[in-house]
Amino acid sequence: MKIQVRTGSLPEHMTEAAVVTLFEGETGLTGVTALLDERSGGLIGEILHRGDFTGRTNQIAVLYTRGDLPVKRIVVVGLGKRLDFSPDRLREAFARAAQQIRSLNISEFSTSLNIQNIDFPLERMAEAAVEGVILGLYQFLPFKTLDREQSREVAGFTILVAEEGTYKVIRAAAKTAEIISAAATFARDIVSTPANEMTPSDLANEARESAKGRNIRCTVLDAGQMNELGMNALLGVARGSDEPPQLIILEYRGGKKSSPVIALVGKGITFDSGGISIKPSDKMDQMKTDMAGGAAVIAVVRAAAELGLPVNLVGIVPATENLPGGKAYKPGDILKSFSGRTIEVVTTDAEGRLILADALTYAGRYKPAAIIDLATLTGACIVALGDHVIGMMGTDDDLKREIRVAAELTGEKVWELPLWEEYHELIKGDAADYKNSGGRAGGAITAAAFLSKFTGGYPWVHLDIAGPAWLTKEKPYIPKGASGVGVRLLIQFLRNGYRMGKK
Ligand code: BES
Ligand code: MN
Ligand code: ZN
Repeated sequence: MKIQVRTGSLPEHMTEAAVVTLFEGETGLTGVTALLDERSGGLIGEILHRGDFTGRTNQIAVLYTRGDLPVKRIVVVGLGKRLDFSPDRLREAFARAAQQIRSLNISEFSTSLNIQNIDFPLERMAEAAVEGVILGLYQFLPFKTLDREQSREVAGFTILVAEEGTYKVIRAAAKTAEIISAAATFARDIVSTPANEMTPSDLANEARESAKGRNIRCTVLDAGQMNELGMNALLGVARGSDEPPQLIILEYRGGKKSSPVIALVGKGITFDSGGISIKPSDKMDQMKTDMAGGAAVIAVVRAAAELGLPVNLVGIVPATENLPGGKAYKPGDILKSFSGRTIEVVTTDAEGRLILADALTYAGRYKPAAIIDLATLTGACIVALGDHVIGMMGTDDDLKREIRVAAELTGEKVWELPLWEEYHELIKGDAADYKNSGGRAGGAITAAAFLSKFTGGYPWVHLDIAGPAWLTKEKPYIPKGASGVGVRLLIQFLRNGYRMGKK
């Protein structure tokens, strides 16, 4: 889809559909909305005064102007109560409008961001609108050969700005939003792609492709190199599969040489059968999504480079399948991790923390100012927080605060779980240093306690995205399926400039 920013007045603009938003219970029309109403003979006023349209969240009305002005249709979307407004409301409203427009087979539409008297700068509004449109129209179609004509695309979205003076900032904001949304949809595509088409080698190729033509260096370690380093936790998990494991490393140096590195680590299990501790077959197909963390990390590094963010970033994605093969690792096995610490395998289904252990240790090579890992790590996190929330655990209060700030801006919900000493007790090993499961109780937290042993004392936050990575029911700007969760969150975190200039 082509996103454009132009100067001009919406009522004078030749467009198939003009989108305007209205707050709930506000019937006095202002600005562009008032102009459109006037020029169309009171079409908007009429639905308000008849009570057909109240402005409740994501309510929508399509009005036909019948040749009275160059705008062929007016699409009115409800924003809910003014007091509850946030950029997320706008993402939702524009996603809803764009979906309606697609369902009417309209090829192109426009808006002029008419919201008045709101505390958010216009460029943030523009960003939210563009994100809502792109994310809301997302479809995953590469494997569809039937009914393709029903899944048509909207070709254009134009934002009109009134003055020359704001044109540049809005233009830049739209571009930024396009890059961020493209990163999120890129992650969605990778997660949606089934495991037979997204093996660890395929994932490594996606990373290589992402690095190409951008200011990113991609290195991929193979099993031989991992073996030389002693990454036996990662290699242990990989042993049950014929697909070779890959350790993907993406480096983007957009900051000063002296600025610290931020390390992002993403779980890249391209299929999790559970291994010898095999999962029930019901819903096992969903385990193609077990690389959502890894996909997000690749997407974030790519977007950081495209945005030219002034940060030094490394993305690390340990990638393998978890399968029960003749050479597979077994419950009771003891693995010597890259860190030197030994791990007793209680269950081969707690594989994510094993591959992350070695990847986190590897991140220590960069002496990072922060390590953030993203992983579809535990079903227990879904039990604790539900499907819509990212579980956050970590060792650094500053870092956690910064993640919360970013989450507030992107609408991705994050909730902290504690990491108290009692939980660490539960993962102490009998025959080895640690064991890879602390049992059912507090499972999301004991998983994090395990990870913490491999963070080398660097400021670290773990984000468990098992719940929100895959939606079984659509949300306004997240269609059913892969959500791309964490991508916008981490880009926002980087844009906010965490510890820039500090050691
Ligand atoms: N990939 C799963 C976690 C998961 C479950 C993600 C459901 C998304 C939806 C992870 O590898 C796993 O199997 N975790 C186990 C750990 C347990 C065996 C200690 C779990 O949560 O049951
Ligand atoms: Mn598992
Ligand atoms: Zn897993």
